Amino acid sequence: MTQKRQLKLGTMLHGPGGHVAAWRHPDAVADASVNLAFYKRLVRKAEEGKFDLVFVADGLYITEKSHPNFLNRFEPITLLAALAGFSTHIGLVGTLSTSYSEPFTVARQFASIDLISNGRAGWNAVTSPLEGSALNYSKPAHPSHELRYRIAHEFLQVTKGLWDSWEDDAFVRDKQTGVFFHPEKMHRLNHKGEFFSVQGPLNIGRSRQGQPVIFQAGSSEAGKELAAKEADAVFTNHDNIEAAKRFYQDVKARAARYGRAPEEILIFPGIAPIIGHTQEEAERKYEQIAGLVHIDDALNYLGRFFDHFDFSQFPLDEPLPDLGELGSEGFKSTTDWIKRIAREEKLTLRQLALRVTTPRKGFIGTPEQVADEIQEWFEAGAADGFMIGSAVVPVGLDDFVELVVPILQQRGLFRTEYEHDTLRGNLGIPVPPNRYRSGQSTASEKSRAPELEASKQ
Ligand SMILES: Cc1cc2nc3c(=O)[nH]c(=O)nc-3n(C[C@H](O)[C@H](O)[C@H](O)COP(=O)(O)O)c2cc1C
Repeated sequence: MTQKRQLKLGTMLHGPGGHVAAWRHPDAVADASVNLAFYKRLVRKAEEGKFDLVFVADGLYITEKSHPNFLNRFEPITLLAALAGFSTHIGLVGTLSTSYSEPFTVARQFASIDLISNGRAGWNAVTSPLEGSALNYSKPAHPSHELRYRIAHEFLQVTKGLWDSWEDDAFVRDKQTGVFFHPEKMHRLNHKGEFFSVQGPLNIGRSRQGQPVIFQAGSSEAGKELAAKEADAVFTNHDNIEAAKRFYQDVKARAARYGRAPEEILIFPGIAPIIGHTQEEAERKYEQIAGLVHIDDALNYLGRFFDHFDFSQFPLDEPLPDLGELGSEGFKSTTDWIKRIAREEKLTLRQLALRVTTPRKGFIGTPEQVADEIQEWFEAGAADGFMIGSAVVPVGLDDFVELVVPILQQRGLFRTEYEHDTLRGNLGIPVPPNRYRSGQSTASEKSRAPELEASKQ
């Protein structure tokens, strides 16, 4: 009997919760974004709920107006390394920028997390939307949206190439014969491209899952194209099931054009469930969270998506003027969405800021209602899994694990035990074979300079 298609679940680790005012909530741990004990508790809870992964977002530029969670937070790779020791089955996914990093360093870092965690690492490869990032990285200017994605394509190819530097049986470590490794199973990438020049090999081998899982988070045309070509999974945001279905079909169709099967790329819409014993209780919880935001903070939060644009220059209770191309170089897919809802629904600035700060995208209700909605999206072809980004944690995650997960399990939609202890294994995506495994050298290897050949002796 073939097993029913299984839902995948991830949860965000973002301090006291995803909401801009989460830290003010009576149940919040206000210093959560730099509190390792707190994160350890969340990871344990997510693993108890048999989640596939925890997910750490990131950014490279802050101002006084940034989301409070971003002002003082752990660097993702460092946090994942610490969390690897507290967990055994759950995947550990972290964000790192392709616009402000070097592929050799990133390949090493994630390969290290992959070995430390015994095959549970994932990389959310982002292009960095914030223009100010250039000011922190000695760059004359922030690359344009189009250029960032071009860099990202090459960056991912180089990183994946480096991850195959060592065939899986390259290290023999034979004390008797003195043979530490088979030189013919070590491979140099010898990459020379438009942006990067990387010889290799990488100084770390592959884990049990072959290569870390690649997540992509960016939903513009360029973002979908990158995902279709290079990613194992996509983190995305949608207002409603119809938009999510269109995105899902679009990305899977693009992946097919790269010769990939639909199940090789998993789509994870982000949702923020709010759960009550009754619908009314859930609504009260939503109102309580929404009410934590001061309008000035809401305007700052809105401004962040538009490169810290100062929205306070417009009247609060009048429709927002046309913003033209503002925001198109940064969080393009998100700013396009914000401009669209402002225009279509004729929202005042106040309404828009509050809506963006505390979105209502469903998933607010009793455990059964939330499970129904998850099932509907999953079965309608709008999602392969969900990224749970509770407005306030730990309460939001605890509610989900204790009240919604058992319903999904009873319905046969979600595992009751982990199938594997690697991230690829649990996600059900293939281990990429080492590109050199057959022993046949590639074109780039054949063109290897003679001195490099000599250095292998
Ligand atoms: C759901 C989602 C999550 C994202 N998470 C991050 C993040 O953690 N760090 C980051 O720098 N950018 C993040 N981004 C931004 C994208 O990587 C990208 O730079 C930006 O959205 C512009 O690309 P797009 O127009 O293709 O969406 C995220 C985007 C989306 C849609």
